[in-house]
Amino acid sequence: ITNPITPALDPDVADDFAFAFDIDGVLVRGGDAIPEAVEAMKVLNGENEYGIRIPYIFLTNGGGKFETERCRDLSKQLEIDVSPGQFICGHTPMRELSDKYRGTVLVVGGEGEKCRQVAESYGFRDVITPGDIIKANSATAPFRKLTDAEHTASRDLLAEGKYSKLSDVVVDAVFVFADSRDWASDLQIIIDVAMSEGGRLETRSEHSDQGPPIYFSHNDVVWSAAHEHVRLGMGALRRIVEVVFEQCTGGKQLTTHAFGKPQVGTFEFATRLLQQWRAAQHGLTTTKPPSTVYFVGDTPESDIRGTNAMDAKTPDTNWYSILVKTGVYQDGTEPAYKPRATVPNVLDAVNYGIEREM
Ligand code: G3P
Ligand code: MG
Repeated sequence: ITNPITPALDPDVADDFAFAFDIDGVLVRGGDAIPEAVEAMKVLNGENEYGIRIPYIFLTNGGGKFETERCRDLSKQLEIDVSPGQFICGHTPMRELSDKYRGTVLVVGGEGEKCRQVAESYGFRDVITPGDIIKANSATAPFRKLTDAEHTASRDLLAEGKYSKLSDVVVDAVFVFADSRDWASDLQIIIDVAMSEGGRLETRSEHSDQGPPIYFSHNDVVWSAAHEHVRLGMGALRRIVEVVFEQCTGGKQLTTHAFGKPQVGTFEFATRLLQQWRAAQHGLTTTKPPSTVYFVGDTPESDIRGTNAMDAKTPDTNWYSILVKTGVYQDGTEPAYKPRATVPNVLDAVNYGIEREM
């Protein structure tokens, strides 16, 4: 009797090893596939001398879209079908916090209303954005004018009936989902909330240390985009928030939190996803995890650091870090965290892993 949900075991699947890929700087740069990436996916999907298919997942710190949308983009870029069942982005693990913060949350970053919609889809009940606050009080950010489209899309907090003034709004937590599109006003609003009385908008706490928790979806100070040099990322905003808070409060420390790589929790999330994916896609229903997961990344501080930390924590699986030279890491420099192997590009990384296994 075949189980209609679990597919039959795929006889040509590699059952003892798997790959996990970073995206920016490894598979994609500035919206286009890195040329060797398309070939690398073909090799994983059976176009190799052994005729085997190798399970793989994607683990990016990027975000700002629904996982399904990002998978559609990646499918086009890599010329394969990418499923949300094999994909994690920086904010994906935040969905697990929607039961902890059941009141109002401030969601920062990304294009237009997208991150609000993603947060609502994660189960957050009352999502406000910097645009909503500026719409209610334009003096919040003196040099930021909402465009007509932004004004229309933003919530009218004071007209909804729930709040009669901004100080009725209490923020339980701040989530920076994606890169800020206006660093100055987002910084102002995050600092305002951090210095408030327990997250109540438009207030200042006497001791400036009663603000709600602040979560960033990752901590990359730089990342690899279309420009020849790396670009500033969310980790840079996180540093700025902490330094400016200290300046504004006469030396108080603000502790913020980051998801994404290199957090081991993110790699543990990836381990669970990979097990589910191996079962759902390849019929590998055994609870035995693969002996080796090759993680291919371009950023020593997040990809290599996290993979090595996960390796040290996981006796049953070798998390094997492979650094490529197509992104943040610059050939000839000393990486801050040492990979098990360094290769020119993602195709070389895939071939390296297969040769090591066969
Ligand atoms: O903003 C995205 C970036 O910081 C890193 O993305 O795919 O290299 O983890 P990725
Ligand atoms: Mg990267």
